[in-house]
Amino acid sequence: MYIIDSTKQDFSNGTLLVSGAKNAALPILVSSLLIDHPCTFKNVPIYQLDVLAMCRLLTRFNKRVSFTSSTVDVQQTASLSCPTPDWVEDTRYSLLIIGSTLRKLRNVRIPQPGGCRISSGRPIDIHIKGFEAFGARIQQENGYINATLLEDRDGEFELSFPSVGATENLILFATTGSGHFILHNAAVEPEIESMVEFLNSCGAQIRQTGQRKWSIDAVKSLQGSSATIIPDRIEAISFMILGALLRRNIEVTPIITHHMDVFFEILSSMKVAFDIEDLHSGLSRVIMQSSDGDVFLPVNVATSPYPGFPTDAQPMLSVLCLQANGISTIEDTVFIGRADHVSQLQKLGADISVDGNVIKVNGCRRVFTAETLRANDIRSGIACVLGALISEGRTLIENSQQIERGYEELGPKLRQVGIRIERVSSRI
Ligand code: UD1
Repeated sequence: MYIIDSTKQDFSNGTLLVSGAKNAALPILVSSLLIDHPCTFKNVPIYQLDVLAMCRLLTRFNKRVSFTSSTVDVQQTASLSCPTPDWVEDTRYSLLIIGSTLRKLRNVRIPQPGGCRISSGRPIDIHIKGFEAFGARIQQENGYINATLLEDRDGEFELSFPSVGATENLILFATTGSGHFILHNAAVEPEIESMVEFLNSCGAQIRQTGQRKWSIDAVKSLQGSSATIIPDRIEAISFMILGALLRRNIEVTPIITHHMDVFFEILSSMKVAFDIEDLHSGLSRVIMQSSDGDVFLPVNVATSPYPGFPTDAQPMLSVLCLQANGISTIEDTVFIGRADHVSQLQKLGADISVDGNVIKVNGCRRVFTAETLRANDIRSGIACVLGALISEGRTLIENSQQIERGYEELGPKLRQVGIRIERVSSRI
């Protein structure tokens, strides 16, 4: 549980360091199952619970995973085999085990994955239809997913929605073995691009051949390689919003600006002041520059798959809209019912409501009153933290381990800008 007491805060200017992206690290780590040779991954957010869960999962598939600071070395200790499926690691990304092992093992049985319960169920029909189009059979029974490769063949598949996980799973499946595969209406998030870049550095033949199209020529085997995990654009957005809320000069670094173009447009349209400076190797830093007298303007935003505004950032944007001068609307077109943060922010006294998939935020009231909140998933949890930081009194945030699934070392990082979060060990 987190305790955030407004009387103990001493907000200051400072720098917030952005970790490697969880959503890039998870598919890259799991892709090492395709590779018999040693691989090295740098800038891995190893303190995030989802990343640790994935590393534990790899060890069950005969991988030795060792850590030195944020560098992770993965090495094969025995030939790849499917363990008895008695593991229940709480990450939805265990689903990618299928794509990265099925062609070698031909039969894979995994427990139904966990992960963020951010909307009403998280269907896996696109994964299943894609595998079927590529010659596999997938059955779900008694909490398990059984995958069987029936035949080796070429495949072409159009996703009904550009699902990030399904795109990654199908690319992983198509990468090794034989055949030519095409994915239409696929996701093209930067995290997928970085997984593809890593696999290509290992000898894979994966190309983006259209706006939402991937073409993959399977190769017999892959060699070992290394990758540096890209900065987490969602953590960066969380920190930029924090800087705007606190109206301090907060530097957020490193970032890759073109991963966040739409967010920068939104900040500009809200009249949130910031400046971007280039660093090196394609990295930049952003300095938030709003001061007390600045008035933020309301916005109307809809989330959509990349390059659109990310669904993962809408709970945090909702909090920023609480400080805008009027009514904002945020529509989530990616997930149905992703609005857990709304009821939590209401407890603080915020004028925020949800109707279907549209969140309405009336930003006319600026000061909120502390309450007991609950982090139901990673992003609604960080929205609770942001809400608590603009509230008077002592806010308790239960279930804070949800936040730590996606934010590493949050307390120590935020101390750099005078924020004090007391972390109390508790099972709630
Ligand atoms: C990934 C991200 C998550 C982000 C999401 C959307 C990781 C580890 N997680 O999750 O942070 O919020 O992308 O950007 O990278 N869908 C189906 N059937 C399927 C698969 C998905 O209907 O088989 C639907 C989902 O219910 C959802 C939408 O498609 O409404 C997008 O989901 P998807 O892109 O698959 O999200 P994840 O890959 O799970």
